[in-house]
Amino acid sequence: MKIAQQHNRITWRTIWPDARCKFVRIIDQTKLPFAFEIVRVQSLAQMVHAISAMQVRGAPLIGVAAAYGMALAMLEDESDAYLLQAAEMLKNSRPTAVNLAWAVNRMVAALQAMPHARRNFTAWHEAANIAEQDVAQNQAIGQHGFELIKNAYQSRLIKNKPFNILTHCNAGWLATVDFGTALAPIYAAHDAGMNVHVWVDETRPRNQGALLTAWELAQHGVPHTVVTDNAGGHLMQQGLIDMVIVGADRVTSKGDVCNKIGTYLKALAAHDNHIPFYAAVPSPTIDWDISNHKDIEIEERHGDEVSYLQGLSADGSVQTVRVIPAESNAANPAFDVTPARLVTGIITEKGVFAPQNLHACK
Ligand code: MRU
Repeated sequence: MKIAQQHNRITWRTIWPDARCKFVRIIDQTKLPFAFEIVRVQSLAQMVHAISAMQVRGAPLIGVAAAYGMALAMLEDESDAYLLQAAEMLKNSRPTAVNLAWAVNRMVAALQAMPHARRNFTAWHEAANIAEQDVAQNQAIGQHGFELIKNAYQSRLIKNKPFNILTHCNAGWLATVDFGTALAPIYAAHDAGMNVHVWVDETRPRNQGALLTAWELAQHGVPHTVVTDNAGGHLMQQGLIDMVIVGADRVTSKGDVCNKIGTYLKALAAHDNHIPFYAAVPSPTIDWDISNHKDIEIEERHGDEVSYLQGLSADGSVQTVRVIPAESNAANPAFDVTPARLVTGIITEKGVFAPQNLHACK
């Protein structure tokens, strides 16, 4: 199925409330790139499901989705007890991205300060503020990251060949309200006329790179190539990667970067090949309360995501096939941690920080 060209970040956000603040609309990311479907989320329970089933995903976006989940909860019941119950349900919907707990805590603080009669209005207002803040932060990340790319591009000895950036998972506009984190600098560079090319890790098991990042880049007209998750090291040895930029789900106060499973291996290979490795993160992704990355809860998802693959069959229908023997077990840790020593810099809305200087971003 061909998706019309207007489905790009210029024309869409990933989440938005209806005009009367009675429900929220999202792009169902489990259907992309084979179908572009807008879904109504009308209750707290539906928002918890949308987050855990990954209809919305990506650290910044699930934070905003959870904020709107709190607003939906206030339509149902404005009591203190329900407020706290809703907060727990949303926080438990996915454990690793700190943006989710950050947004819920911000909502709880704003709502507890209000009398019950004002909570509904306050909730929608505050959720919209969090969404707008995300957009502004990502746009600023795009500008700071663009400067990095521009400087590296201009200082290269061999001119007139593409500037090759490797990315992992999807940290584009689909993972945020708009602009994206890791892809924001790439869009800025492409829009400024630079010759950038993106190596897109497929990102097993859920293939966020192959399905979502590739789709986003195609919609925006950015040259890109999808590679298997195992190809990055080889490409680096061949001199085919100039920079790695990834997103993050949580960054410790020491600059350790927790991101989609497989990121660590890319950072090791980048380090061995003297290739700069950057994480692009809005400040709500930094967990100032955690200095030891072992304290980060790594989400374990269902093994079926490893055992089965979904794709478009020749007749145009989406089909699911098993890809491992029926007798085999599958394990599915969803994130890993790249130690700060492998990270060249952290691109935030406030500028680019070496991990050891991250405190200056606080
Ligand atoms: O499991 P997902 O798809 O929610 O994981 C997303 C990632 O790991 C992204 O790289 C990260 O959230 C940064 S998004 C701007």
